[in-house]
Amino acid sequence: MLEISDYRLGEQLGRSTISNWRIAETHLVDHFIRVGFPVRIESRHEVGQLLDTMQEKRFERFMTELGGLTTAEADSLTDALVSSVKFQMAHLPRRNPCVPFSTMISSLTLYKKIVGFKPDVQSVLEVGPGCGYLSFFLADHRTLTDYSQVEACESFYLLQSMVNSYLFRHEFRDLAVTAPADRTLHIHRDLEQPVVLADEQIPVYRCFHYPWWTLGKLHEAIGRYDVVTSNANLNEFTRNALYEYLTIFSRVMKNDGIFLIQCTGFPAHGSTEDLMEVLHKFGFASLFCGMADENVRSNMLVSGRYRSLGFHKKRFALNNLVLVKKGHPYYEANIGLKNYAHGHASEFPRLSHIFEGGIEESRARGSRRAYSIDETLKSVKQKLLQESGNTDGGWLSRAAG
Ligand SMILES: C[S@@+](CC[C@H](N)C(=O)[O-])C[C@H]1O[C@@H](n2cnc3c(N)ncnc32)[C@H](O)[C@@H]1O
Repeated sequence: MLEISDYRLGEQLGRSTISNWRIAETHLVDHFIRVGFPVRIESRHEVGQLLDTMQEKRFERFMTELGGLTTAEADSLTDALVSSVKFQMAHLPRRNPCVPFSTMISSLTLYKKIVGFKPDVQSVLEVGPGCGYLSFFLADHRTLTDYSQVEACESFYLLQSMVNSYLFRHEFRDLAVTAPADRTLHIHRDLEQPVVLADEQIPVYRCFHYPWWTLGKLHEAIGRYDVVTSNANLNEFTRNALYEYLTIFSRVMKNDGIFLIQCTGFPAHGSTEDLMEVLHKFGFASLFCGMADENVRSNMLVSGRYRSLGFHKKRFALNNLVLVKKGHPYYEANIGLKNYAHGHASEFPRLSHIFEGGIEESRARGSRRAYSIDETLKSVKQKLLQESGNTDGGWLSRAAG
C-alpha cells in the first residue's frame, strides 16, 4: 500500500529531474487550492473527508438520466456501496463508515456508458478519477486487462491508491512508488537469502496508477485504450495540462476507441464553448453532444438522429460528449466544430447503447424504475447485516434500526 512518504519522495525525485519547471506547474491543481480543498494530507486517515465528494446532491439527477435502474443495476449499486463500506472499515477504522451515494451512482453511470460502448472492454484510461469509484465496477469486469488512472492531487491520489489496493489487490501497480533497492546482502556465505521473484514471475497487473511526473510513460502507450475518459475536470485543468492530456489521448486511443466525457467541468480556465473549440482543434470529431438538462433551452435545435434515438426526452445530469480521433470509421462524417453543439448525434450505432432512453421511455418499457436514496440505503444495511451475521449489537445493527 502506498505511503504518503512514497508519494512525496516520488514527486521530489520527479521535480529534481524534470527539464523545465513548467512541467510541474502544468499539473498544479490550482483550482482546488483556491477553494481550500485539502490537496495535501499528513495522514492516510484524512482521506475520510473525501469519500463522497465532487458529485454532491446528484443522486436523483443521475437516477433520472439513467431512466431508473434495472434490478441487476440496482444490485450492482448496492454491492458497490457495501464494498465501499467494507473498504472504509478495513482502512479507515478511526471513523464510522459513510455510504457514498452520489459519487457511486455517478461512477455507475460512467461504467454503464463504457460497457454500453463495448461490453467486452479491455482497456480504459481515466484522468482525474476523484474518489476513484469507477474501480468498484471495473475491478469485477471480466474482460478488463488494463485500467489506468492519472491523478495530480496528492489527497485524491492516496484515496484512489487505497481503493485500488483493496479492490484489485495484487493486480494493482502504483507508479508513484520508487524503484526497489538492491535486495541482496553479500556478507556471509551461509546467510540464507530471501527468495525474490523477478517481474516476469509474478501475475500481471490489471490496474495502473500514474502520478503526474510519470506521464512520459503514458505518452508511449500508443493505441492501447478502448476508452479514455476525463470527467468534471477538462475545464479545471490548467490549459497546458489540457493540451498535454489531449495530445496523450490522441496517441493512446485505439483507432476505433472513444474519448468519453461525462462532465466538462467547472469553467475555471475558460468557458464551455472555449473548451469545445480546443477539443475540435486537437483533431477530435464529436459523435455525440448532449448538454446537462439545466443548460438546455427550449429553442435549441436537435438533429433528426438525436430525436429518433429518443435523446430529446432524456435529461442529462451533466454535459456529455463522445469523441473519436482520425482513423475511426465515423471520424470523417463528423469532424467539424458545429458537431460540438447540444443535439448532435451521429450514425454511430453504439450511441443507443451508451445512452439508453430517458425515464419516460423506460417506464413505458417497464424494465427500469427509479430507486430512492432511502430504499438503496435499506438494501445496503440489509446486505451488511447478512454479511456480518451479527444482528445482536454493534453499530451495524444500530444503523439498520
Ligand atoms: C472535480 S474533480 C472530478 C472527479 C471525478 N472525475 C468525478 O467526475 O467525480 C477533478 C479531478 O481531476 C483531477 N485533476 C485536476 N487537475 C489534474 C491534472 N493536471 N492531472 C490529473 N488530474 C487532475 C482532480 O484532482 C480530481 O480528481
